[in-house]
Amino acid sequence: MSRYDVERISDNVHWVGVKDWDRRLFDSLIPMPEGTTYNSYLVRGKKAALIDTVNPGFEGELLAKISSVMDPADIEHIVMNHAEPDHAGSLPFMLGKCPKATVLATERGARLASMYYDVPEDRLQIVKDGDALDLGGLTLRFAEAPWLHWPETMFTFLEEERVLFPCDFLGAHTARGLWDDQNDELYFHAKRYFGQIMMPFRKQGQRGLEKARGYDPLIIAPSHGPVHRHPKRIMDLYEEWTEGRTRSKVVIVYVSMWSSTAQMVRTMSERLTAEGVEVAVHELTGADLGDIAKDLVDARAIVLGSPTVLGGLHPMAAYAASLVKALRPPAKYAAVLSSYAWGGGAVKQAGEILGPTGMEIVGVVDVSGPPREAQHQAVAELASELAARVRG
Ligand code: FEO
Repeated sequence: MSRYDVERISDNVHWVGVKDWDRRLFDSLIPMPEGTTYNSYLVRGKKAALIDTVNPGFEGELLAKISSVMDPADIEHIVMNHAEPDHAGSLPFMLGKCPKATVLATERGARLASMYYDVPEDRLQIVKDGDALDLGGLTLRFAEAPWLHWPETMFTFLEEERVLFPCDFLGAHTARGLWDDQNDELYFHAKRYFGQIMMPFRKQGQRGLEKARGYDPLIIAPSHGPVHRHPKRIMDLYEEWTEGRTRSKVVIVYVSMWSSTAQMVRTMSERLTAEGVEVAVHELTGADLGDIAKDLVDARAIVLGSPTVLGGLHPMAAYAASLVKALRPPAKYAAVLSSYAWGGGAVKQAGEILGPTGMEIVGVVDVSGPPREAQHQAVAELASELAARVRG
C-alpha cells in the first residue's frame, strides 16, 4: 500500500506532484506564506510520459506516487517544460529509475538539461513548436512559449483530454487545494506570483496566453499551485495582468529613520485617498515583497519615500527601487518623498534607478529636517497632481 494518495485529474492523467508546505522563500527572494507545490503529471496512453519532475529532496515521494500507478521503469518519455531545478532538478534521479526514458525539451531546454543535469545527448529529444508525441491513443502537442519565465520554456497539451501543462505560467505559490475551487485565496496568490515571476515578461505572457486560449483547455495543470478546472477564470485574470491594465491606484513604498519621511508619506496617502485614489502603503522594514509585487500588477503610480543615508537612498529604499525597476510594472507615474539632515542625495539616486523605467517622475519633495506646514502643503499639492494623472 502506498503512503500517498495519487489523484487523477482527467481520465488518463494523474497528479504525482508534491506539496512543500514548509517552504517560505523562493529564489532566496520571494516569500511564500502558504508554501508551494511542485506539480508533476503522469500521462498514460499505451506509452507513458511524465510531465516535469519535482524539486530535489522530494524524489522519493515522486517515485512512490508513480509506483502506485505503474512501474516507473516503463515510462518512455519525460517532458521538461522548463529547466529550473524546482521542476527539472529530479531529472538525474528519474532517468536512473526510468532507463527507457528520453527527455523531451526545446532546443534551449536541451542545452540547459545538459548543463545543469548532465543529461546525456542520446537521452535528449528536441521538440519544436507544434510537434506531437504519440503515446498510443493519446497525443501530446508541444508549444514553444519562451521567456515564461526562462528562455527555454514550453507548454504541453494533451489533445484528447484537453489538458494544458503550461509549467510556471498560470501557476501560484500555495500548497492549499488540489483544485482551483478548493482554495478561496487562490487568485490572491496567483496575483502575487504573477507580480514576482511573470510581470517582467508581460509581452511574452500575452503571446503565451493567446496560445493557451487557442487550445481551449478544459483543465490547466500548472507546475505550482492548484489545478484549474475553471480555466477561464485564471486566463481572464492573466489577460488583464499581461496587458498591464492599471487602475486608479498608487503604491507607496517607504522607509523612515526619524519619522520625517513617514510624516510626508502620511500626508501623501491621506490626500490621495481624499482625492478618490486607492492607496497601498508598504513600510519597507516590515513589508512582504510578494504583497508589493501584487500591488504593482495594477497600480498606475508609485511613490518612493526615503531619507538620505550616507549620500544616497536608505539601502532598503534602494533595494525597493531596484526591485521596481526589475519587475517592470505597468505604472506610468512616480513621485519621490525624501528628507535629509545636512546633505541630500536620495532623490538623485532614486532618479538614477527609476529613470530608465520610463515612468514619468511627476514630482519630488525633498525636505531638510522634519517637514513643517509648508512642506506638508507641498506634499499635498504633489498628491493632488499625482491623483489627477492617476484618475485620468
Ligand atoms: Fe517553478 Fe521557474 O520554476
